[in-house]
Amino acid sequence: MAERPLDDAVERVLAAFREEVGRGVSSRSEFERVKGRFLGREKGLVPALFVQLKSLPPQKRASFGARANAAKVEIENAVADLASDLERAEADSRDRAAGVDVTLPGRRARPGGLHPLTLVRRRIEDIFLRMGYSIADGPEVESDFHNFEALNFPPEHPARDTQDTLLLDRKARSPLLLRTHTSPVQIREMRRHGAPLRIIVPGRVYRRDEVDATHSPVFHQVEGLVVDRGISMADLKGTVTTFLGELFGRDTHARFIPTFFPFVEPGMQVNIDCFICRGVGCRTCHRSGWIEILGAGMVHPEILAAQGYDPERYTGFAFGVGVERIALLRYGVDDIRHFYANDLRFLRQF
Ligand code: FA5
Repeated sequence: MAERPLDDAVERVLAAFREEVGRGVSSRSEFERVKGRFLGREKGLVPALFVQLKSLPPQKRASFGARANAAKVEIENAVADLASDLERAEADSRDRAAGVDVTLPGRRARPGGLHPLTLVRRRIEDIFLRMGYSIADGPEVESDFHNFEALNFPPEHPARDTQDTLLLDRKARSPLLLRTHTSPVQIREMRRHGAPLRIIVPGRVYRRDEVDATHSPVFHQVEGLVVDRGISMADLKGTVTTFLGELFGRDTHARFIPTFFPFVEPGMQVNIDCFICRGVGCRTCHRSGWIEILGAGMVHPEILAAQGYDPERYTGFAFGVGVERIALLRYGVDDIRHFYANDLRFLRQF
């Protein structure tokens, strides 16, 4: 019976705690006081029980310790409950003071979306991946050799003027520039792989072009290149027509106009009827009724030979599509500058 007074000590602490809590703890200062009185490290009644434990004879310690521990757990849990009740009450009163009504429905977060140019690039990639092409890549900082010379643009050749170039380093043996088209990747891929070759190359290109509704100094192209035995102009026309049909619908009008590109023979430009004026002539199509969307042609035999192919056995075709032009047509946008303005009112429509 010698343990009664100490057993009572545990009971007394528990009873005192229950009584305090029973009276209600409604303010932060009241809470801190109760918490300190029972759990305070220095003078708290619960830690004091464990000090008393040390003065007990060893055989009594286990049962006293178990009771003291149970009391400690009960008090700690109750204090944690009091803390969260108090926090909730404080948050409610803050909301009331700020006029927040938590019962109103929330505002839905708007998920981000893909940029229209990304959507178009992916659509183009999809079409060609289904036709068995693979995707290749090349550097945006390019050598004069790959961008021009290897593509049959000799120095001082007037065709270089059509692609006003941003030069980076004039003095290098092959000057460095920002590539003006994705065609240099044709050279890189022909050198890296043998035939058959069937690739597309999406990428960013740079020109010192005057900015207007259909021209930007930085824009995107997707290059296409096929090299194999027996590739003919019919394959090129069939591929381009299938591609445009997939993209714009089977009733799209495309016209193929002979054009000069030094790396193809023959070369052509493909135009499509203007989506804004339906061919009548407007600001977007420079009053012509047509919008130029890609350049194409049969790979020049000299270029095939220079990359190690026998042009008697291998032929190929290539094309370069302007991604922005496709996006203008596909979405009926009347000015290329909308794609770069980052105006969310415009971008949210896609
Ligand atoms: C070329 O860049 C050739 N490399 C295309 C080519 C590839 C021809 C393979 C033959 C074989 P061009 O300069 O025409 O060609 O440009 C190709 C397309 O890029 C144009 O049809 C047009 O859609 C787009 N484009 C050209 N300049 C701009 C510009 N400043 N802003 C936006 N799009 C442009």
